[in-house]
Amino acid sequence: MIKRNINLKKLNTFGIDVFCDYFVEINSISDFLNLIKETVYKSNQKLIIGGGSNLLFTKDFNGIVIKNNLKGIDLVSENNDEVILKVGAGENWHEFVMWCINKNYSGLENLSLIPGCVGASPMQNIGAYGVEIKDVFEHLEAYLISDGSHRIFNKNECEFGYRDSVFKREQKNKFLIASVNFRLKKHANLNTSYGAINLELAEMKITSPTIKDVSNAIIRIRKSKLPDPNEIGNAGSFFKNPEISIKKHDELKKVYENLVSYSLANGNYKLAAGWLIENCGLKGYEINGAAVHTKQALVLVNKKNCKGIDVFNLSNYILKQVAQKFGVSLEIEVNIV
Ligand code: FAD
Ligand code: EPU
Repeated sequence: MIKRNINLKKLNTFGIDVFCDYFVEINSISDFLNLIKETVYKSNQKLIIGGGSNLLFTKDFNGIVIKNNLKGIDLVSENNDEVILKVGAGENWHEFVMWCINKNYSGLENLSLIPGCVGASPMQNIGAYGVEIKDVFEHLEAYLISDGSHRIFNKNECEFGYRDSVFKREQKNKFLIASVNFRLKKHANLNTSYGAINLELAEMKITSPTIKDVSNAIIRIRKSKLPDPNEIGNAGSFFKNPEISIKKHDELKKVYENLVSYSLANGNYKLAAGWLIENCGLKGYEINGAAVHTKQALVLVNKKNCKGIDVFNLSNYILKQVAQKFGVSLEIEVNIV
């Protein structure tokens, strides 16, 4: 059923108080294929949402918001070493990760506690603690938003990069992702190389960790750093960590000895954008209730019922300050609507 004039405050984790002209939830593919025959659908711009945890609404949405509720976790195949699971786009990401851990399927434990739904996970190739979904991705099924035609995207076709995929570029807003297939290991293949994980496990006094232990360690780290959207509106990291040349890196390192950077396989360096923002003196900086989080400067928060445009203006201010001080351009990670 298509509803009119719906408030989206509870449907985006920034908690931005905006309205959309039309709103509909789809619970099956046939719901979607019926929807596309409706005049309201044909004559309006569309926005598909999952958990609304990587979106910033800067104004009311003059069009139809489609909330993807396609559910289901199916075992497609298995052998002694691996399983392939087909997962509905509307499944909650963290609940799906917990489901896998309970079955002892390994591969997603480092991605515990990321908000949102499975369908959005390929959009920016979600990543955390040394793992990205491209590492376990098999293929996805999608439907063309314009005419409902079905298409499969394999891993190459998704063109995954750091917080990036073809769905953020050439295919932006063109497809409804309906399900994602993941290839997971039956025998734990733990990745604890990301520094903080081993420290956390040591603190938990765990010497031979299980999948569940790694997940718990990551949940503990995340809870200590990132603000809970139920307590204060946010969409996780607002910017990507920028990649710079070795030359630029060496210039910066001469001036800023404690610069936080990581060397990349291609010879370039990645900088911690949170460090850059903090070192512009912007932790806690606020514009009209939109603020830089005091614990993690890469996260912008809705501190006092701000408007989306206030967060956007704050992000522009940060971009300018970081460019002026360090000569580095930050790129926004969050999808601006
Ligand atoms: P939404 O915000 O609803 O949508 C995001 C984009 O995907 C939009 O452009 C939307 O139109 C599109 N979209 C959504 N579903 C579909 C679909 N089925 N078909 C087609 N298009 C679709 N991200 C990370 O990568 N790593 C992290 O560690 C991380 N930590 C976070 C921590 C916090 C506290 C928060 C609030 C966010 C964090 N994020 C992180 C960002 C976010 O959780 C992820 O990007 C997540 O995948 C977004 O899922 P969603 O369902 O909420 O997407
Ligand atoms: N730092 C500061 N000041 C800050 C914040 C960070 O100096 O205010 C420095 C710290 O020294 C730390 C380094 O930056 O050593 C990295 O910080 P952190 O470990 O918190 O990770 P991040 O680089 O800020 C990235 C991802 C997160 C992901 C974590 C863990 C991006 C844009 N962000 O954050 O993803 O969870 O690593 O892998 O790559 C997201 O995409 O929304 C997200 C939360």
